[in-house]
Amino acid sequence: MKFFIDTADIDEIREAYSVGVVDGVTTNPSLIAQTGRPFDAVLHDICEIVDGPISAEAVSERAADLIAEGRDLEAIHRNIVVKLPLTLDGLKACKALTNDDIKTNVTLCFSANQALLAAKAGATYVSPFVGRLDDIGHIGMELISQCVTIFANYPDLHTQVLVASVRNPTHVTEAAMVGAHVATIPFKVIQQLVRHPLTDSGIQKFLSDWTKVPA
Ligand code: G3P
Repeated sequence: MKFFIDTADIDEIREAYSVGVVDGVTTNPSLIAQTGRPFDAVLHDICEIVDGPISAEAVSERAADLIAEGRDLEAIHRNIVVKLPLTLDGLKACKALTNDDIKTNVTLCFSANQALLAAKAGATYVSPFVGRLDDIGHIGMELISQCVTIFANYPDLHTQVLVASVRNPTHVTEAAMVGAHVATIPFKVIQQLVRHPLTDSGIQKFLSDWTKVPA
């Protein structure tokens, strides 16, 4: 399973990418707004750091405007993936941009039928939001399982399931267990993936015992 980092924070991206286990980046308008910086400046810096798919969201509503935005975003760097909303206009734009060999990530997906439509529109990725479904009492991971199963039933569907709205390490484990293609993970959760108290205590014990080894 590929790991993308879900942030627009350059320092977080630089640190996470330096480990060598992060394959790409996803951003969204809220994450970009949190930086307090212009969109193109943030994208430029991310493209300088990460050699992998970098999702940048188009914010128009009408298909024609989404298509124009998508072309402008794709022109910034070869690694840019255009994020589009799961609406009829978003699907129309996805189809048009896909026909122009522009990579797309159809986002704000909350049902298997929405995901199937995104795949039929040729999306490179579809982003079902697990955490936001959990937040309202649904079992978000069931949607991921449905998407993976449906896509596997039809080999002509090439869309990758990109698990988004990840809130904790369990989401990452469960996404991998059901065979999701990608999980996009906040920096805080990436840090949590690494930590385990038994690892920490084991390291301390080994280092302590090592001091007793004769020179
Ligand atoms: O960036 C898309 C998605 O991962 C955002 O998730 O629910 O934490 O805003 P959320």
